[in-house]
Amino acid sequence: MKRYHDIVGDGGSRILEQVAEQRTRIADGLAAVRHLVAVGSGKGGVGKSTLTLHLAGALCARGLRIAILDADFNGPSQARMAGVQGALLVPGSHKVSLPRTRNGIAVFSMGSVIPESEALEFESTARGESHTWRATREFALLGEILESFEWGALDLLMFDLPPGAERTVQYADFLGPRTSFLLVTIPSEVARGVVARSVAALSKEPNRLLGYVENMSGYYCRDCNTVKPLFVSPDDSGLEIPCLGTVPFDPELARHCDMGIPLAQLPATPVGRALDHVALQLLDALDREPD
Ligand SMILES: Nc1ncnc2c1ncn2[C@@H]1O[C@H](COP(=O)(O)OP(=O)(O)OP(=O)(O)O)[C@@H](O)[C@H]1O
Ligand SMILES: [Mg+2]
Repeated sequence: MKRYHDIVGDGGSRILEQVAEQRTRIADGLAAVRHLVAVGSGKGGVGKSTLTLHLAGALCARGLRIAILDADFNGPSQARMAGVQGALLVPGSHKVSLPRTRNGIAVFSMGSVIPESEALEFESTARGESHTWRATREFALLGEILESFEWGALDLLMFDLPPGAERTVQYADFLGPRTSFLLVTIPSEVARGVVARSVAALSKEPNRLLGYVENMSGYYCRDCNTVKPLFVSPDDSGLEIPCLGTVPFDPELARHCDMGIPLAQLPATPVGRALDHVALQLLDALDREPD
């Protein structure tokens, strides 16, 4: 498939210049962001969105300025989880201002724009060929969102990625080497196998792979106040990147996600402590010099 740079003679569209100009506008808009972190996995449903929001919450509680870009345009979870489903997008001083959660996290999610009963449509002129356009249109939209919103001065901008090992690599390519990756797995061999493939694929990219979080690592039983086993699998994940921590499954956390209530209102429980620990490990990994 041809890349933009392969196009010879643009028929006057200035396509190369337009792409370069957009890249510059995006870079300018993100110039005051200290760290860019994409939370991915390859595997679906392992808790990428949950961890993105609640790690952001833990860091926000420690005084850091955080924003989330929900890059899952057709399966956005952040609007509901972060409680910004009905948020109105209003003009800021130069660009569009970002809605905020009750605990101060700035969030862009397609779920604030399109109701859950509707799918995001990408028009295709050729029948049976929508797949050709889809990825291109999705990334074009991501570019537009990055250049249209006021990200401002942030300690951390987190990208909540959709599932799919192939797409994870596409995001690495699109977001560029400034973006580091945090991967999420659960302690099942099925999930670990998929995440191992994402590690292999991302290792070929220039982006930093900070490590992984093992989510749903045990089940927190509130009746007996202990963490019980959930998956029966070897302790060693076999993933050749650092483990930044483990987070148990807590039904109360799932309920908070469904209702859009932030972590600040979760009492100090194993899951709250685990998220705080992972958040600090993440900061540590980001502040460490790259190898
Ligand atoms: N540690 C946890 N404790 C309780 N519930 C959790 C935990 N982690 C995730 N969940 C719940 O599991 C479900 C799936 O999580 P989530 O949507 O974050 O996964 P995902 O990896 O982002 O999925 P997708 O691949 O579709 O983007 C959600 O309902 C979420 O609330
Ligand atoms: Mg998700």
